[in-house]
Amino acid sequence: MREMTFVVAGDAYDRFMGRYSRELAPAFIEFARIEPGVRVLDVGCGPGALSERLAGVVGAEQVGAVDPSEPFVAACRERVPGADVRRGDAEELPWQDDAFDAAVAQLVVNFMRDALAGASEMRRVVGPGGVVAACTWDYGDGMEMLRLFWDAARTLDDAAPDEGRTMRYRSTEELGELWREAGLNDVDTDHLTVQTTYSGFDDLWEPFTFGVGPAGSYCAALEPDRRQQLRDRLFESVGAPTGPFTLGARACAVRGTIRAA
Ligand SMILES: C[S@@+](CC[C@H](N)C(=O)[O-])C[C@H]1O[C@@H](n2cnc3c(N)ncnc32)[C@H](O)[C@@H]1O
Repeated sequence: MREMTFVVAGDAYDRFMGRYSRELAPAFIEFARIEPGVRVLDVGCGPGALSERLAGVVGAEQVGAVDPSEPFVAACRERVPGADVRRGDAEELPWQDDAFDAAVAQLVVNFMRDALAGASEMRRVVGPGGVVAACTWDYGDGMEMLRLFWDAARTLDDAAPDEGRTMRYRSTEELGELWREAGLNDVDTDHLTVQTTYSGFDDLWEPFTFGVGPAGSYCAALEPDRRQQLRDRLFESVGAPTGPFTLGARACAVRGTIRAA
């Protein structure tokens, strides 16, 4: 059910979250130690912000990518010609054992139906000596765009499903524990910080109405007058901007290796 919130056009995603994914990708690639020559799988690739960046490092023909959302798979194929982009779930990756040297998942683990199964599958498709890495937003107070949105929503609705409360795997401790449970070795964690600049308040607000992810789904389902109230609250929380402004976002990242037998 959760993944239904990602059955949207790639462009809608890019205006909402993809603008952060693009900024996060180079820092995450460095953290995951992806270097030229590596065959790498992008799990939960979305419309392909990370896949595109990976292709720039290792070459498109060395990149595999997978996502359950049909429009995202189509967008990723178009964005990264030459990459092997398939439709599927992390919990049952459509590749054989040891098909890659690395598997990465950017902003995905918390959306998996079964994160342990997903992490274990990422380990299965990576050969000995390889790396498995993931990152997720620090939904507590580290992701300003979502924090401002849910704080505004909760002033109008106590029961608003604040991702800072509902999401799992939003700390380095939780991610580290998951990676160890999945049988990965040399587990290491860190924080990655990015920012994005909005041209004005509408550049921030409009993408919420596209229905992308939990915040977008919540916003799009509101009655028009309620949505207008939420817009007004958010406008105040952001400081009633009359021009461009910048928001920051902190991700929690985890990396582990597969020891040679
Ligand atoms: C927040 S988006 C991240 C997309 C992309 N990695 C990025 O950095 O922009 C979450 C993605 O996880 C995908 N997803 C949801 N459930 C999944 C699952 N069980 N296995 C793999 N991907 C999944 C969604 O379709 C969506 O593309």
